[in-house]
Amino acid sequence: MPTAEISLNLPDENATEQLGAQLAAILLESVSSNKNNGLDSNTGATIYLRGELGAGKTALVRALLRACGVTSRIKSPSYALLESYKVSSLYFYHIDFYRFSDSSEWQDAGFRDLFRPDAVILIEWPQKAGDQLPAPDLLIELSYEGSGRSARVQAETKRGATWLRNLSKNCPQ
Ligand SMILES: Nc1ncnc2c1ncn2[C@@H]1O[C@H](COP(=O)(O)OP(=O)(O)OP(=O)(O)O)[C@@H](O)[C@H]1O
Ligand SMILES: [Mg+2]
Repeated sequence: MPTAEISLNLPDENATEQLGAQLAAILLESVSSNKNNGLDSNTGATIYLRGELGAGKTALVRALLRACGVTSRIKSPSYALLESYKVSSLYFYHIDFYRFSDSSEWQDAGFRDLFRPDAVILIEWPQKAGDQLPAPDLLIELSYEGSGRSARVQAETKRGATWLRNLSKNCPQ
């Protein structure tokens, strides 16, 4: 499928939080809709986040999880690799593969089992898992831009393309 993408300016932390909240609203709308773009594929919803250390991947995921209704402490998964949350009937898995040295660890660690239909999977440093991961609905690449950040959001599935259209309606570029 042709790749669709948009670029967004995130001049401050507040802009990152707003993007997280917008993504959450789109995700939740997708879950509650009866359309085929709901979370009914075999792998659940997947968003991968790339970008240098400190680019804002965890900050963005934290804002998304808060807006999805997570009330407990949201820790960076840099050490534990995985932090899990459950909100009503949805599972949220926040993964950070930065410390993965060998992509074959992926199989041993059983990460494949997390890709279930009722899961939202958010992965920082997906490139460290080599080619083991399925294509994400959205790939978000965060970059330093002066004192702020920019985000390139790419859709890699049909469902992701629908989300991207909704996002671009809300975010003037
Ligand atoms: N748009 C923004 N403009 C300026 N600062 C921001 C913006 N968004 C987030 N930040 C700040 O940048 C830092 C990002 O840290 P964060 O832990 O989210 O990075 P990360 O990409 O997850 O890094 P790592 O690869 O180490 O996991 C935080 O201090 C956050 O407050
Ligand atoms: Mg992080």
